[in-house]
Amino acid sequence: MGRRGKIVKIVGNLVAVEFAEAVYQNEVAYILHNEEKLKSEVIRIRGNIAELQVYERTEGLKIGEEVEFTGELLSADLGPGLLGQIFDGLQNPLSLLAEKYGFFLKRGAYLKALPEENFWEFIPLAKKGEKVKAGDRLGYVFEKIFKHYIMVPFSFPGIFEVEEIVPEGKYNFKQPIAYLKKEDKVYEVFMKQSWPVKIPIRAYRERLSPQKTLVTKIRLIDSLFPIALGGTYCIPGPFGSGKTVLQQLISKHAEIDIVVIAACGERAGEVVEVLRTFPELTDPRTGKLLIDRTIIICNTSAMPVAARESSVYTAVTLAEYYRQMGLNVLLLADSTSRWAQAMREISGRLEEIPGEEAFPAYLESRIAAFYERAGVVRLNDGSIGSVTIGGTVSPAGGNFEEPVTQATLKVVGAFLGLSRERAEARKYPAIDPLISWSKYKSFIEEERVSFIHSVLRRANDIYQMMKVVGEEGITLEDYIEYLKGEFFDYVYLQQYAFDPVDEATTQERQKYIFDFIYEKIIQEEFLLENKENALKFFQKLRQLFKTWNSEIWQSAGFKDLDREIREFLNERRKVKSNV
Ligand SMILES: Nc1ncnc2c1ncn2[C@@H]1O[C@H](COP(=O)(O)OP(=O)(O)OP(=O)(O)O)[C@@H](O)[C@H]1O
Ligand SMILES: [Mg+2]
Repeated sequence: MGRRGKIVKIVGNLVAVEFAEAVYQNEVAYILHNEEKLKSEVIRIRGNIAELQVYERTEGLKIGEEVEFTGELLSADLGPGLLGQIFDGLQNPLSLLAEKYGFFLKRGAYLKALPEENFWEFIPLAKKGEKVKAGDRLGYVFEKIFKHYIMVPFSFPGIFEVEEIVPEGKYNFKQPIAYLKKEDKVYEVFMKQSWPVKIPIRAYRERLSPQKTLVTKIRLIDSLFPIALGGTYCIPGPFGSGKTVLQQLISKHAEIDIVVIAACGERAGEVVEVLRTFPELTDPRTGKLLIDRTIIICNTSAMPVAARESSVYTAVTLAEYYRQMGLNVLLLADSTSRWAQAMREISGRLEEIPGEEAFPAYLESRIAAFYERAGVVRLNDGSIGSVTIGGTVSPAGGNFEEPVTQATLKVVGAFLGLSRERAEARKYPAIDPLISWSKYKSFIEEERVSFIHSVLRRANDIYQMMKVVGEEGITLEDYIEYLKGEFFDYVYLQQYAFDPVDEATTQERQKYIFDFIYEKIIQEEFLLENKENALKFFQKLRQLFKTWNSEIWQSAGFKDLDREIREFLNERRKVKSNV
């Protein structure tokens, strides 16, 4: 018989419960309402009153109804079968919900995240008598294209001895696959374990600093504002500026093993869009479906606020779980503003002292703690795994001064700011090179990158000047500098997402084209007598690049263009006198 309490007050999703025995902060409790059991979490305890946020709509609940405390924190189920699934914030599989209840969650309906009965071919690795600790590999099963390691549960403290391990064969989640002994007590281990979502998994040897570039195949990102494997980035951008398209492109092309998407949408439509389009994307790496190495956690503003708030934690926990297998995982949160809004709602109901724009005072620390769960780790057996976290932010009115954007940019390693002007001019990706930054290293030479930054800044300054004084008001040199900047933006930075070739550029190709443009165009001086000639020259050059727009980004077909461009440039280059 568990600990119980009685409802004394109901305010929206917040329920106050009077209790007699102890109640623990953040433990999960169930409200017993007729036949329904409504899941909730203890978020504040004052005296003998526990305040619960309910993961469900609360219509019909009554004062005096019973509440059962579980003593457990909100946890995610971890085991084979996660890949390819679409869950809600509480890890209910949405496809099953759709079959059972029509699309969205029926109140009080909780389904197992992982099918218990499915059999998996288990191959043992550990031996009887071996000493093991949390995170050590006991064996594996094949899940899609990956070896899914079955590990000593992350919650097991200290050193255990393998008392028994099952032989190779088919097992499901109902039979233990190993028995581990510690101080004469024997513990069963199953292929499934659970882990509290708000606590980072730390069953590894050490954290390493992110060094390797995560190649996304988006030129503007990789060349100018790179993301590191195991690092963090954010994409703030106004409404409709291309945040979601960019995240989808990254998930499709980034050199990563597994993608976990936390889709937090404003309207149900947005999320349904993800559910409709995503499972159809093909994986450029395997030729199969991208969903095979993806997990999606979905929710909309129509879902209860607490479920929305927990979804990013569920997502990051799943990401950490696969990192424990030595895989590189990318976690995309779209959009973190919806998550922050959920925090704001909860805080408002608790009548906490509000911070800026009514967000809670702990907004910053929550955002920081979330991004801190990214990282490269060396596992117990020496292998390396990583979680990279990328979050979009949708600031109202596109104003980056607001609290969520500000809190985010303090903690991330790369800031890819989208601008309304670029999006409106259909310059995609609409990442504004003048406001974006990255602390990570690009595969393009550093001094070349910073020179390009100065070219882009200068081009913009001259453009702003021209808007005031007109083209006549500036010198020919300035005009040429402006055209160079524009040219680089047009042929290199802009990349059309819906062209099968242009949508992704390999590292090798990026480096080749970048260096070519840098050496042969940006650094060169040309015989251009007046502004009209200068404009014609760069227009022709643009055309030469764009005519073969597709081909220049892959090796095949580039040869002819290469020759044509070189000839064109040679004719017009100022011959430098050799001193
Ligand atoms: N890289 C791109 N290439 C081509 N078109 C793009 C690109 N990015 C965005 N678009 C266009 O802009 C539209 C809106 O993009 P998207 O839905 O990603 O914006 P968003 O910032 O996520 O919007 P919201 O604020 O509503 O979430 C797309 O449907 C597409 O037509
Ligand atoms: Mg979007």
